[in-house]
Amino acid sequence: MPDLPPPLRQLQAEFALSTGQLAAIAALFRREMAAGLEGRTSSLAMLPSYLTCPTGLEQGAYLALDFGGTNVRALLVELLGDGRYRVLGRRSAPLADPEGAYDFTAGAARDLFGFLAAQLADLAEGEGPYFLGHSFSFPCRQTGVNSASLIQWTKEIKTAGVEGQDLTALLTAALQRRGLDHIRPVALLNDSVSTLIAAAYREPRTDIGSICGTGHNTCYLEPAPPWGRQPMYINIEAGNFAKVDGNSYDALVDQASEKPGAARLEKMCSGRYIGELFRLVLQDLTGRGLLFAGAPASPELFRPSDGADLALILGDESPELEQIALWLDDRGQAGRHSLDDRSALRSAASLIAIRSARLVAATYAGVLQHLDPAVHRDHAIAVDGSLYEKMPGYARVIGLTLAELLGDRAGRVRVYLTKDGSGVGAAVAAATVSR
Ligand code: GLC
Repeated sequence: MPDLPPPLRQLQAEFALSTGQLAAIAALFRREMAAGLEGRTSSLAMLPSYLTCPTGLEQGAYLALDFGGTNVRALLVELLGDGRYRVLGRRSAPLADPEGAYDFTAGAARDLFGFLAAQLADLAEGEGPYFLGHSFSFPCRQTGVNSASLIQWTKEIKTAGVEGQDLTALLTAALQRRGLDHIRPVALLNDSVSTLIAAAYREPRTDIGSICGTGHNTCYLEPAPPWGRQPMYINIEAGNFAKVDGNSYDALVDQASEKPGAARLEKMCSGRYIGELFRLVLQDLTGRGLLFAGAPASPELFRPSDGADLALILGDESPELEQIALWLDDRGQAGRHSLDDRSALRSAASLIAIRSARLVAATYAGVLQHLDPAVHRDHAIAVDGSLYEKMPGYARVIGLTLAELLGDRAGRVRVYLTKDGSGVGAAVAAATVSR
C-alpha cells in the first residue's frame, strides 16, 4: 500500500503479513489438517461428510434448504444431468427480522426449525415425495450422510436446544408438525461441502470448496479418508484454525464474542467479524486524536458495521471519496471530515480486507500441500460467499497471494466463484443419496 500517512503506518504493521509468515501459516495449516485426520489434538476438526464426488449425471427435482448464518434459503432445483440445473422455485428469509419482529438466532430450537419448515412448504405443493438436501453452515458430528448433530454454534448464533442434537430429527419433527410428511430429508451437509459438490457437478476437477462470507470455512476431497475406502469430502472447519497470531484488535473481538478462544481465524477473516474489527480500529484512531483533526467523534460513528460497510468504503474510487463522505454523514459526522480522514478510512478498511484474503489464501496453500505437495496436478477451488463475490479486490488478492506462495505452480490452481453453490449442492447431494 503506497505512502500511508503516519497514523496508519502503525496500523499497517499490525495487519501486514509477510510472505514468510504466510508460508509458515500454510505449513501449520497442513500440519493441523494431518493431526485432525489422525484424531490427534488439532484446532481443525476435519469432519467426515460421508459424501463423495457427484457424477454430473444426477437428474430430477430435489428440494434444498440452505441454512446459513444470516439467511435461510429454500430451493426447488431440477437437475438436468450433464452438470446442468434449473431453479424451479426459491424462498429466502432473514433469520432475524431487520424490523425486530422475530429473531431465530437467539430463540428456541422448536421455533427455529418451524421457521425452516415453513420456508419449504410453498415449494412442495405436489404430492411428492420430495427428497431434501439440507446445507447447514455449522460444525456437525456426522455418523452418516443424514445423521448429524451440531457440535457447537459459531458466528454468534445462540438458539437454545440445538447444540448436541440430531438436526435431521429436529427438522423432520418440524415438518411433521406442519403436515409436510411428503418432504423427506435425505442428506445433511456443511455449506462448504455443498458448494464443492455444486461445483464438482459442473466441473469434476474441482477438489476444494470454500466459503468467504458471514463465516469462513474450507473443505476438500480427501483421497484416503480414515472412515472408508472411497474418497470423501472433509469439512475442515477452517475458521477454527488457531495457529495464527492476532493483533490487539483481534483480541478485543475475541473477548467480546459468544465463544472467546474459538474460531480464531474466522474472527480475523469473515464478514461476521471484519466490520467489528473496522469499528474498533476507527474507535482507536479517533480516541488517539488521529482522525477528524483530533476532535471527538459522534457516538453514531461507532455503530456496528459489517462486511457490506467495508465493501462500500473500498468500492469508493471517486477523487473526493464521496461514498465514504455519505457514510460518515450518515453516522453523525457531517461537516466534520476531511479528504485525509476519508482516505484514512479507506486505507484501514483495505488493510483489514487484504489481511483476510491473504490469510484465506495461505490456508488454501496448506490444503494444496496436503493434497499434492509439489502441485503436480491441476486443482480448482470453488468459493461462495459475500466477501469473495462483493468485496472489491478480495478475489484478486487471493489469486496474487497464491502466486506469491506457489510461484509458477500457481498456474495449476484455479479459484472461481460458485454462486448459489450451497443450495444447488444440497440438491445434488440429495440426488446422489437417493439415486
Ligand atoms: C462457520 C461454520 C462453518 C461454516 C462457515 C461458513 O465457520 O462453523 O461450518 O461452513 O461458517 O458458513
